[in-house]
Amino acid sequence: MTIQNVTVMGAGVMGRGIAYVSALAGFHTTLVDISDKQLKDAYNHAEQTSQKGIKKGKLTEQEAQSLLHNLHTSLHFEAAMATSDLLIEAVPEMRDLKRQVMEKAEAHAPKHTIFASNTSTISPTELASYSKRPEQVAVMHFFNPVHLMPLVEIVRGLETSDQTVEFIRQAAEQMSKETVEVNEFPGFVTSRISALVGNEAFHMLQEGVATAEDIDKAIRLGLNYPMGPLELGDLVGLDARLNNLRYLHETLGEKYRPAPLLEQYVKAGRLGRKSGKGIYDYTDNDKLVKK
Ligand SMILES: NC(=O)c1ccc[n+]([C@@H]2O[C@H](COP(=O)([O-])OP(=O)(O)OC[C@H]3O[C@@H](n4cnc5c(N)ncnc54)[C@H](O)[C@@H]3O)[C@@H](O)[C@H]2O)c1
Repeated sequence: MTIQNVTVMGAGVMGRGIAYVSALAGFHTTLVDISDKQLKDAYNHAEQTSQKGIKKGKLTEQEAQSLLHNLHTSLHFEAAMATSDLLIEAVPEMRDLKRQVMEKAEAHAPKHTIFASNTSTISPTELASYSKRPEQVAVMHFFNPVHLMPLVEIVRGLETSDQTVEFIRQAAEQMSKETVEVNEFPGFVTSRISALVGNEAFHMLQEGVATAEDIDKAIRLGLNYPMGPLELGDLVGLDARLNNLRYLHETLGEKYRPAPLLEQYVKAGRLGRKSGKGIYDYTDNDKLVKK
């Protein structure tokens, strides 16, 4: 089946990035959210990212124009789903919310539409059970920032068909992504490792092992990670990181219990880059300054 129309549900950190690569791949892409502000910010983000891409020689003027031509924003999920070949949902990592999205999509999508979720941890079998087309549901897990990170993890649920996996692989490849296929386990490959490393860094910060800057520097320069785990937490969003850990704690056990300091930061509204402050402060023109 050829893919023409893609609906991305949720215009946050991930949804806006997914909509960007989808529109760049030539798909007619509708980005949906419940917040008009988020949609406006997402469209601005697409304009700015494409301009940066032109300056760096990664994108031609014409590609940027056609990307923006392919990208639409909407507050009306039902209408977007009515003509959608592929749904990629990127609403916050809360099971009730994901359930509502799957149920609403089922009520309004044509029979052929494939439902993909960008969840970092949740079981595709569980997500599929909220639809009436379990063979057409799978996880399509992108990475942040989406336009730069080359991987998509494809996770199949109990009843996901081979055709659905192939469809998602083709969509990902058209978005210039590499894919890996992963069996269903909480947190897949990447979120499971990343949550554990990020949580440990929070424990170290809480215990006073080193400053945030030195923890990040040690991991970058000593272990050759491109980014320290605390900087990465701010990029991912500390609320997203906490939700992942809560799910992994519930499903995989004690070693994933979220660090109390992480819980405290989220309670205080320190969510990372998106709120202007997390472990680091970004209020000064997005410049990273000391806590
Ligand atoms: N942040 C990351 O680095 C990252 C990486 C991979 C996967 N994920 C996963 O992607 C998903 C989204 O995460 P995020 O970090 O982009 O979240 P986010 O909080 O940045 O954005 C979520 C967006 O969903 C919108 N939203 C909330 N309720 C909605 C609803 N009922 N209908 C439509 N939109 C709604 C919000 O307005 C917001 O714009 C989560 O499942 C997360 O686990 C996140």
